[in-house]
Amino acid sequence: MIKAVIFDMDGVLTETSHQHFLAWNRLAEELGYILPLEVKDAVRGISRLASLDIVLKAVNADKRFTESEKLVLAEIKNIYYIESIKRFTAEDLSEGARELLELLKENGLKIALASASKNSKFLLRAMEIKQYFDIVVDPAVIQKGKPAPDIFLKAAELLNIAPEDCIGIEDAYAGIESIQRAGMTALGVGDAAVLSNCSIVFDNLQGVYSYFVRLFRE
Ligand code: BG6
Ligand code: MG
Repeated sequence: MIKAVIFDMDGVLTETSHQHFLAWNRLAEELGYILPLEVKDAVRGISRLASLDIVLKAVNADKRFTESEKLVLAEIKNIYYIESIKRFTAEDLSEGARELLELLKENGLKIALASASKNSKFLLRAMEIKQYFDIVVDPAVIQKGKPAPDIFLKAAELLNIAPEDCIGIEDAYAGIESIQRAGMTALGVGDAAVLSNCSIVFDNLQGVYSYFVRLFRE
């Protein structure tokens, strides 16, 4: 029986995958590269430093920087990213997000956040949805990022709910894998071609809303 829903943030509750890509692109341009568009999907769900490796590899610059230089580059990207989300408000929530959170609460489900982003607590407050979340996993305490199951398992542990009683919602291929390896049901949001490892994919959260309406009627 489903008792909890565990959300990803970027690309699910808000369309910040775009801002992440623009920040990487700005950094790449400053380093003299043109970032291929595929990087946008490749870094979905992937931690900041691991994303930097993907970015550098995509422009054949994976040998150019030392580890300490890479820390600086990741920090610069984060400054650009923060700049792009600093004026976020409730208006920036994905369509249907608040209605979905309300529906889940009304039906007695627990709600958790399992985002790889260290900026997602800021977004929860800025978009005025923090009150819906029973727990928020701190990605800093997770050793292995998505696609490892750790962050979703941590959410279930903090909620004190068995993984098989949880649904995870993701826009990333790596995120879907993480949910599946945690032994949970995975719902994908976004491009079905990108989410080829997920059997239930919706275009948007309104589709997810209808899924839960049906589930609660059963
Ligand atoms: C994920 C995004 O949610 O968070 C990734 O999909 C991003 O693109 C990752 O790299 C880490 O985010 P941040 O904000 O801590 O750099
Ligand atoms: Mg995401």
